[in-house]
Amino acid sequence: MRATEVFAPAKINLALHVIGQRADGYHLLDSLVVFAPVGDRLVIAPGRGLSLHVHGPEAAGVPADMGNLALRAAALLGGDAAVTLDKRLPSSSGIGGGSADAAAALRGMAALHGTRINDMQALALGADVPMCLGSRPVRVRGIGERLDPVTLPPVAAVLVNPRRPVSTPAVFKALQSRDNPSMPDRLPSLTDAPGLIAFLREMRNDLEAPARQVEPVINLVLTALEAQRGCTLARMSGSGATCFGLFAHEADAQAAAQRIGRAKPDWWVAGGVLGDQMQQAAPRLSQG
Ligand code: C5P
Repeated sequence: MRATEVFAPAKINLALHVIGQRADGYHLLDSLVVFAPVGDRLVIAPGRGLSLHVHGPEAAGVPADMGNLALRAAALLGGDAAVTLDKRLPSSSGIGGGSADAAAALRGMAALHGTRINDMQALALGADVPMCLGSRPVRVRGIGERLDPVTLPPVAAVLVNPRRPVSTPAVFKALQSRDNPSMPDRLPSLTDAPGLIAFLREMRNDLEAPARQVEPVINLVLTALEAQRGCTLARMSGSGATCFGLFAHEADAQAAAQRIGRAKPDWWVAGGVLGDQMQQAAPRLSQG
């Protein structure tokens, strides 16, 4: 058997509307999600029993036991494996880190053992896991289980995280209104980055206001992005604290990422073109 390498890209909520709440407390969402060319990397190799080793620039504090969603995901599909996680995305940061790792582990285990991934199992791991399984632009509804693929133009972005973990339940708890308008039933045809950005400016992230209350440094992140030349939209992803700035021109995004990185060396800053990361995310057999 061979080892499998799987990319776990960051998920970005370009818009996130909270439109209701279920009896069990979970919130009903209407969200437009894309994936970034930055992410974690997992290698899933044959092993005795199931093990996880975590390394990489964001590995500090990340559990290597069943507290790690990637290991729980691998255990769900059964079989032995030695999982190595190269952690590059900050944890509890609104860009899916743990969910992306879990989805990548499911894909890698399925490739290694020839097993199939069950959508309900993915959802039980976390509401964001099903969307991360595809790593393609998607409209997400329900609590995260209803996925409708969308065609979106690629758009240049800068991602900024102030390195303060934010608790998702705390942000949902601080949310004032749980019955906000959804996105339009039919999304307009979006064919270029300026058109996409103009549409998104009419949309919202309903978790931004409560997250700013829970973690006020998010205000500084958004201000830093808004001040960048060519940045036409700055918004938070998920429940934060990562925010993204969108740019019509990639060169402006690259320059902005460099400027923010220089001004705030303690922050996590990444740049790239958002869109479809499935080419990269698909498992690759990497060793003989
Ligand atoms: O599903 P996951 O474990 O990622 O969700 C973490 C927490 O976020 C949940 O316990 C819940 O408080 C909140 N959540 C929610 N509605 C969603 C997704 C998450 O209220 N659709």
